[in-house]
Amino acid sequence: MEIDLQCSRCRLSETRIQVVPPSGDLRSPVAFVGEGPGEKEDQKGMPFIGRAGKMLDRLLREEGLARERIMITNTVKCRPPENRRPLPDETCACFPYLEQELVDKLLIVAMGRTACENLLGRAVKVGQEANTMASVQLMGREKTVLLTYHPSACLYNLKAREGLQASIRLVRERFF
Ligand code: URA
Repeated sequence: MEIDLQCSRCRLSETRIQVVPPSGDLRSPVAFVGEGPGEKEDQKGMPFIGRAGKMLDRLLREEGLARERIMITNTVKCRPPENRRPLPDETCACFPYLEQELVDKLLIVAMGRTACENLLGRAVKVGQEANTMASVQLMGREKTVLLTYHPSACLYNLKAREGLQASIRLVRERFF
């Protein structure tokens, strides 16, 4: 389903400033998926431009992968109030947009528990499963998902930072 900038499929539409669509190269073979927009993203309409975004930028730069070469998106396109985790009915309402964004990708990098669980449809312990691959069906097509840490975890956790860095390295070596 094409993203609707006036979307009102769930209650997040009542509190958001704007819908935050994917950014970067929309035709990239690789998509990075986060949780949902924060305050800065809601203000500017771009994903990952706040503190977590700066961390992601830094790790991408350190691994020599230009942000412009990948697509970056979120599980939900509207900011959850107080930056709480999106609720199951909200991720469910947004899933058709996500599925459409990801259906042509060769690799989907799911960053953090929300993205991993939403795409895999099961509970995930990122600390145990980071840098493993899983197969999922999106719109009847088999897709490969790389599970990894969310950039915000990397702000205070060295294991997370090294884990996300390793994921980015794998992406650069295999795809760019
Ligand atoms: N965290 C996310 O998951 N997504 C963003 O866009 C920003 C912070």
